[in-house]
Amino acid sequence: MLKEYIRRKAALIDQSLDELLPSQDTYPPVIYEAMRYSIFAGGKRLRPVLLMAAADAAGGNGETFRHVACGLEMIHTYSLIHDDLPAMDNDDYRRGKLTNHKVYGEGMAVLAGDGLLTAAFEVMLDQPGVDPAVLVRVVREIALAAGPRGMVGGQAVDLISEGRAIDGKTLTFMHRAKTGAMFRASIRAGALLAGASEEQLAALTEYAEQFGLAFQITDDILDVTGTQEKIGKPVGSDVRNQKVTYVTLYSILAARQLARESVDKALSELEGFGGEAEILRELVKYLLSRDS
Ligand code: IPE
Ligand code: IPE
Ligand code: MG
Ligand code: MG
Ligand code: MG
Repeated sequence: MLKEYIRRKAALIDQSLDELLPSQDTYPPVIYEAMRYSIFAGGKRLRPVLLMAAADAAGGNGETFRHVACGLEMIHTYSLIHDDLPAMDNDDYRRGKLTNHKVYGEGMAVLAGDGLLTAAFEVMLDQPGVDPAVLVRVVREIALAAGPRGMVGGQAVDLISEGRAIDGKTLTFMHRAKTGAMFRASIRAGALLAGASEEQLAALTEYAEQFGLAFQITDDILDVTGTQEKIGKPVGSDVRNQKVTYVTLYSILAARQLARESVDKALSELEGFGGEAEILRELVKYLLSRDS
């Protein structure tokens, strides 16, 4: 059920991204080619899928909100292009292909990221069929999540912490910001767009917090135990860059346990929902067994 849901929604997202991103025939073609290269390199599309699943859980139809969903994937992809740059994690592979800067050069990779980030806001603000006041609130939340109070801030803590001993509190802050904020915004966006009640929104927000944490913990584990073939990016990137992660600070076993606790907490937040939240339940449980 989950696999089929993700397959259907991801196909819809891919088709929408293709429609919403200018084609490579636009001048200057290289920037559109570089943006499209990373967007269509084969991501899991988890953030747009979560937006849609949260909207479905709140009684709406997630597929209606394709523009906002695509904007989230564009922001996420920009963050990966920049994260892989030599000045950051210096990785050569992403989504099973050479990283953007390896193909287009560092300057163009910076611009491809900038292009995706700014185009995301244009695309999201063109979302049809939503009360403008709701859309402004949603887009503002996404801006906050992507910026210095969210993902960018978390990435900054990640960079300044390289090679240094940070404590568990700082690590959890970093994970919540660099990864959790965008998951939180994706799920809240779906809920808000679908007109969720305050009670539903509060439960889905707490679900999202736990989802984001569990997601980055399992990302840290896969950086050690995964295979490049499956995860599509180099194994051992964190050790090479002297990153403090859940694995280095605790252990693989303890990290797995913490991820499990977050998943359980996320599930308990959904107790007030019925079958309409089944995909959200499946999605968070999948984190414990994911290999990519
Ligand atoms: C990877 O995110 C970056 C992190 C936030 C840890 P994903 O694992 O969702 O990457 P894609 O989109 O599937 O490539
Ligand atoms: C980065 O975390 C999360 C982002 C905001 C891009 P990582 O550096 O651990 O992500 P991966 O492992 O390279 O995907
Ligand atoms: Mg990084
Ligand atoms: Mg990285
Ligand atoms: Mg990682």
